[in-house]
Amino acid sequence: MQEPVTEGGATAVAQPNIALIKYWGKRDEQLFIPMTSSLSMTLDIFRTTTTVRLGTEADVDSVALNGKAASGEAERRVLVFLDLVRELAGRKERAVVDTHNEAPTGAGVASSASGFAALALAASAAYGLDLDARALSRLARRGSGSASRSVYGGFVQWHKGQGEGADADLSSYAEPVPVGDIDPALVIALVDGGPKSVSSRAAMRSTVDTSPLYQGWADSSEGDLTEMRRALSRGDFEAVGEIAERNALGMHATMLAARPAVRYLSPATVTVLDRVLQLRADGIPAYATMDAGPNVKVLCRRADADRVAEAVREAMTAGSVVVAGSGPGARLLTEGG
Ligand code: PMV
Repeated sequence: MQEPVTEGGATAVAQPNIALIKYWGKRDEQLFIPMTSSLSMTLDIFRTTTTVRLGTEADVDSVALNGKAASGEAERRVLVFLDLVRELAGRKERAVVDTHNEAPTGAGVASSASGFAALALAASAAYGLDLDARALSRLARRGSGSASRSVYGGFVQWHKGQGEGADADLSSYAEPVPVGDIDPALVIALVDGGPKSVSSRAAMRSTVDTSPLYQGWADSSEGDLTEMRRALSRGDFEAVGEIAERNALGMHATMLAARPAVRYLSPATVTVLDRVLQLRADGIPAYATMDAGPNVKVLCRRADADRVAEAVREAMTAGSVVVAGSGPGARLLTEGG
């Protein structure tokens, strides 16, 4: 156990990740244990920078998000997370949390993944918890499932874990996945930067509870993951893209069949999907994936990224396009004063 950091606090940086094999559904809501394993690529853009200082006097935590006091659900999730860190560290001091997101919050560009990866690292350092990467990934998971993956850079698998309770908690963590030579880029079509209509947490719960298609997707996702790992290790870009696209479309199919239906895909999403099909017909390997929002992330080779970005931009009547590469995992910037 390290000494807690007091002066200056601890600052951590993390980036979002985009899942190529999706996490959709929990089997333990308290511990954030997923129904299925998932696999993602960490991005080199949209950093979250979070500083955690221990307030010696204060009797409540204070949380600022992009310079403004956080409120509602966003604040509540951070407070619950800080309680967990204090419990693990055996400490009582309240914290001052200051977070800056470069990505639009809540737009389906996984700011909760970078957010809780950065918070897990900054808070654990501030409270003097000496966690290895696996333990940090398990801790980040408790803030947002996908955050377990942003602890690492490159391609990352989050294991669904085995058993119940403490066994599941110990066995559900992320770790890096070896990849061959695929030189990937993700062209991100931000068709709508606004907050999402339904939170991923509520949407996945209702899908698991009510969608007659859910179990079929969960079963097929296990096979997708095995095939994805093989395709990544042999550097088979086309196979990686095909598996990612079918896994994402299948996830959205489960939501469409939920009662009531959860539909994140908008007309602009479908326009971009059509453009991606056209790119493939023109001989450019480009594959789409979508999360809990209308934005589309197009997986392509880095060498094709400018052309893909231009094609996607042309197809859009509003919004913006950004190109991301593969980025690093969460890291600590400063410790102490
Ligand atoms: O960790 P959450 O609650 O933000 O859920 C993420 C869910 C998806 O982004 C849709 C899929 C994924 O694996 O990241």
